Amino acid sequence: MVGVRELALLAMLVVVVVGQGAITTTGTNFTLSGDNVSYLFHVDSKSGDLVSDHFGGPSTDFTPPAYISPNGWNDQLANYRREFPDVGRSDFRLPAIHIQHADGDTVSAFLYESHKIVQGKPSLPGLPATYGNESDVTTLIVHLYDNVTEVSAALSYSIFPAYNAIARSFAITNNGTEDLVIERAASFSTDFPNLDLNMIEVHGDWAHEFNRVTRKIDYGETTFRSTEGYSSHLHNPFFALVSPTTTETTGEAWGFNLVWTGSFSATAERFSNGYVRVLFGLNPLHTNIRVQPGETFQSPEAVAIYSTEGVGGMSRSFHDLYRNHLSRSQYTHQTRPILLNSWEGLGFDINQTSLFSLAGESEALGVQLFVNDDGWFGVEYPRDNDTMGLGDWTPNPAKFPDGLAPYVAQINNYTILNSTQPLKFGIWVEPEMVNPNSTLYHEHPDWVLHAGKYSRSLTRNQLVLNVSMPEVQEFIINFVSNILDSANIDYVKWDNNRGMHELAHPSDDYNYVLGLYRVIDNLTTKYPDVLWEGCASGGGRFDAGLLHYWPQHWTSDNTDASNRVTIQLGTSLVYPPSAMACHISAIPNGLTHRNISIEYRGHVAMMCGSFGLELNPSELSAEESAAIPGIMADAERVNPIVISGDFYRLALPDNSNWPGAQFVSQNGSQSIVFAFQQLYMVKPAAPPLRLQGLDPQARYANDYDNATYSGATYMNVGINVAWQQGDYQSQLITLTKI
Ligand SMILES: *[C@@H]1O[C@H](CO)[C@@H](O)[C@H](O)[C@H]1NC(C)=O
Ligand SMILES: *[C@@H]1O[C@H](CO)[C@@H](O)[C@H](O)[C@H]1NC(C)=O
Ligand SMILES: *[C@@H]1O[C@H](CO)[C@@H](O)[C@H](O)[C@H]1NC(C)=O
Ligand SMILES: *[C@@H]1O[C@H](CO)[C@@H](O)[C@H](O)[C@H]1NC(C)=O
Ligand SMILES: *[C@@H]1O[C@H](CO)[C@@H](O)[C@H](O)[C@H]1NC(C)=O
Ligand SMILES: *[C@@H]1O[C@H](CO)[C@@H](O)[C@H](O)[C@H]1NC(C)=O
Ligand SMILES: *[C@@H]1O[C@H](CO)[C@@H](O)[C@H](O)[C@H]1NC(C)=O
Ligand SMILES: *[C@@H]1O[C@H](CO)[C@@H](O)[C@H](O)[C@H]1NC(C)=O
Ligand SMILES: *[C@@H]1O[C@H](CO)[C@@H](O)[C@H](O)[C@H]1NC(C)=O
Ligand SMILES: *[C@@H]1O[C@H](CO)[C@@H](O)[C@H](O)[C@H]1NC(C)=O
Ligand SMILES: *[C@@H]1O[C@H](CO)[C@@H](O)[C@H](O)[C@H]1NC(C)=O
Ligand SMILES: *[C@@H]1O[C@H](CO)[C@@H](O)[C@H](O)[C@H]1NC(C)=O
Repeated sequence: MVGVRELALLAMLVVVVVGQGAITTTGTNFTLSGDNVSYLFHVDSKSGDLVSDHFGGPSTDFTPPAYISPNGWNDQLANYRREFPDVGRSDFRLPAIHIQHADGDTVSAFLYESHKIVQGKPSLPGLPATYGNESDVTTLIVHLYDNVTEVSAALSYSIFPAYNAIARSFAITNNGTEDLVIERAASFSTDFPNLDLNMIEVHGDWAHEFNRVTRKIDYGETTFRSTEGYSSHLHNPFFALVSPTTTETTGEAWGFNLVWTGSFSATAERFSNGYVRVLFGLNPLHTNIRVQPGETFQSPEAVAIYSTEGVGGMSRSFHDLYRNHLSRSQYTHQTRPILLNSWEGLGFDINQTSLFSLAGESEALGVQLFVNDDGWFGVEYPRDNDTMGLGDWTPNPAKFPDGLAPYVAQINNYTILNSTQPLKFGIWVEPEMVNPNSTLYHEHPDWVLHAGKYSRSLTRNQLVLNVSMPEVQEFIINFVSNILDSANIDYVKWDNNRGMHELAHPSDDYNYVLGLYRVIDNLTTKYPDVLWEGCASGGGRFDAGLLHYWPQHWTSDNTDASNRVTIQLGTSLVYPPSAMACHISAIPNGLTHRNISIEYRGHVAMMCGSFGLELNPSELSAEESAAIPGIMADAERVNPIVISGDFYRLALPDNSNWPGAQFVSQNGSQSIVFAFQQLYMVKPAAPPLRLQGLDPQARYANDYDNATYSGATYMNVGINVAWQQGDYQSQLITLTKI
C-alpha cells in the first residue's frame, strides 16, 4: 500500500486536468460544480490528508487557506479544514470517523490512495439514497487507506448540478486481520472557514412536530440528536446553516439532510480558529458497529444543498431533488385520491356494518379512497382497544365474519361521486409492533427488543419487534403480503407508535433500520401499485429514508388547523408538500378543543399532496355539509399544482398573525395562494401579502378582487386580503396568467 500512496503523491506533482462535466480534477485537486455551487477540496501534498477548500457559490480556483499562528497547543491538523476527520494526530475537534481497533486504540490515519469518477450514481447496498442517470449526476469516489491497521475508506461525492446538491456517504472496509468497531460515523463532514453562521433546525414532540428554531453557531458544539431508535418527533434529521443576514428569499443557505430513519446526530462545532465543522450521521450512542476482516460498513447518505436564494431557495431545491431523484414510488408525480380515514370518526368501535355505512357517507361526500384504520384484526386477542391484538394480523371474525375480501368488494361497489370508478379501499397496519396480549408474543417472546433480564418497558401497551432478525423480517413480509393478496387493497397506512427502549446492544437500532429497509424494499417492489403512506404517531418518521420507498407520510397527529400551519410550513423546510398527508378533522378539535371553520381546515389540508377527511360525516353541521362540495372541488383543482409545483412560504405563523403560502405551477401559468388570519386584530392592518416566483412582466388575473395585475405588482405591492372580524379565517386565491 505504501508504494501506491507514494506513487499517488508523486502523480500530484504532474498536473493532469481531467474533466468529467460536473467534476474536474487537477492532479488531486477536486472541483465539483453545480449550476450555482462549487465544492472544492484537495489532497494535502505533505500528509495525504483531505483538505476542504470551498463549499458555496461558484469558484474554480484553489486559493491559500487563512493564516493561523502555528504556535500553541493547536497546531498541524487542528488548523486544517478537513473532509474526513479521523482521531488522533493533532485534530482536537469531533471526528467524522472514530474506530476502535482490536488492541483497544482509537487512532486512525486515513490518507489518500486513489480516486475515480463515475457517471451517474452507484446505489448504496441495502440503503435508501438519491439516484439519477448519467445526465443528472456525477460521482467522485476517493479511496483513503490507513496503512497501520489496514483499513480502507471510500468517500463518495455525487453532484446533481441542476439542484446544487451534493450527496455524500462512505464505506469502511476492514482489510486487516482483526475485528474493528466503528464508534462514530458522520456521513457528511466538512469544515467551513471562520464564518458567522446560524443553525436552523426543527424540534418538537408528538403532535408538535417541525417547529423551527434558530441558534447562533458559537464556540463549542451546537448539536441535536435522536436516541429514540427512529428519526423521531424530537428533531428531524435536517438542519440549515445560514449567514446572519439570510432571509426566506435572499442570502446564503446550506441545507443538510440525512437519508436515514434511525437514531442520528447533527453537530456544528466552532473551534478556536473560528472554523465551523459540520458532522451529520449516526448517533454515536447507538453506533458501536463491529466490522470483521473482509467486511464493509456502508454509511447512510447525507444530502447537502446550497442556495443563494435564501431558506426558500434551499427548500425548493430539496423539494425538486426529492421528487425527481429520491422518491421512487410511481405515485410521487401523481395526484392523490381524496381519502376518508375511519380513525377519528369511529376509533376502535368498528365492524363491517358500521364501516360500510361510513363508506357510503364518504362516497356521498366525494371521497375516492376509504381507509379502514386500527381495530380490524385479532382473533384470540381482539383488537377492541390498544391493550391487545397488535401482531395478530387476522381479521377479527366477529367484526368481519367472512374475512376482508367480501367486505372490500362491497366497499368497491360504491362508485366515486360523478364517476364510474369504484370507491378504493385502504387499510392500516403497524407491522413493527406487538402487544404482550397477543398470540404472536406468546409464541415468540424473544422477537421483541429487550436487554437480558431488564423489564421490557411498555409504551401504549406495546413492545417493538426486533426487525433486525431475519425471522421477524420474513414474518412482516409474509403477513403484509397475505393481507394485500387477500382483498382488493389500493392503499396501506404503515404506522409505528413508540420509540425503542431496552437495546441489548447499542447498534441494535442501526441493524433494525437496515432490516426495516429490506422489508419495505421488498414489499414496495412486490406491490408497486399500492399507495403506501408512512405514519409514526404522526410525523415521528417523516424522513428522507422512508420517502425513498413511500411517496407520502402522515404529517402530525395534531389536526388542529392553526397548529398545522406551523407544522406543515416547518416540514416544508426540507420535504415537499407533495409528500405530506393532511386531513380535515372534526371540531372542537380533539387535542386543542379549538373551533376552526371548515374552510380554514380545508385550505390547510389541501396544501398537502394527500388531502383527506378524518371525521364522521354524519356528525357534520349543516354549514359544514354545505361547504364540503366546494372544498372537495377546490382540493381536486389545486392537487396537481401541489404535487408538481414550486412552493413558497410567504409569511410564517412564528412571525406573523397572517401566515401565507403559495404554489406556482411548473409551467408558470397558474399560482395558488393560501392566506390565513390567526387572531382577529382591531389594529394593526394585515400586511400586504407579497407573492413570489411570478414572472414580473407577465399579467395574471386573480379570483379574489377579479382584477389583473403584473407579476411585479403581486410581488412588490402584494394583495390586501380584507379580513373580517373573527379568528381563524382563510382565503384561497388563484392567479391565472393571461
Ligand atoms: C491545488 O490546491 C492547492 C491547495 O489549495 C494549491 O496550493 C495548488 O496550487 C492547487 N493546484 C492546482 C494545480 O490548482
Ligand atoms: C436521464 O433522466 C432524465 C430525467 O431525470 C431524462 O430526462 C433523461 O432523458 C435521462 N437521460 C438518459 C441518458 O437516460
Ligand atoms: C504508512 O505510510 C506512511 C506514509 O507513507 C509511512 O511513513 C509509514 O511507514 C507507513 N506505515 C506502514 C506501517 O506501512
Ligand atoms: C442559479 O442562479 C440563477 C441566477 O441567480 C437562478 O436563476 C437559478 O434559479 C439558480 N438555480 C438554482 C438551481 O438555484
Ligand atoms: C486486503 O487488500 C488486498 C489488496 O486489495 C487484498 O488482496 C486482500 O485480500 C485484502 N485483505 C482482506 C482481509 O480483505
Ligand atoms: C357493528 O357496530 C355497531 C356500532 O358499534 C353496532 O351497533 C352493531 O351492532 C355492530 N354489528 C355487528 C354485526 O356486530
Ligand atoms: C359532482 O357533480 C356535481 C354536479 O355537477 C357538482 O356540483 C359537484 O361539485 C361534483 N362533486 C365532485 C366531488 O366532483
Ligand atoms: C380491551 O378489550 C378487551 C377485549 O374486548 C376487553 O376484555 C378489555 O376489558 C378492554 N380493555 C380496556 C382497558 O378497555
Ligand atoms: C354490488 O352491487 C350490485 C348491484 O346493487 C349487487 O348486485 C352486488 O351483489 C354487489 N356486490 C357486492 C360485493 O356487494
Ligand atoms: C392485557 O389486556 C388487559 C385487558 O385489556 C389489560 O388490562 C392489560 O393491561 C393488558 N396487558 C398488557 C401487558 O398490556
Ligand atoms: C421478498 O421476500 C421474500 C421472502 O423473503 C422473497 O421470497 C422475495 O424474493 C422477496 N422479493 C423481493 C422483490 O425482494
Ligand atoms: C369576483 O368574482 C367572483 C366570482 O364571479 C365573485 O363571487 C366575487 O364576489 C367577485 N369579487 C369581487 C371583489 O368582485
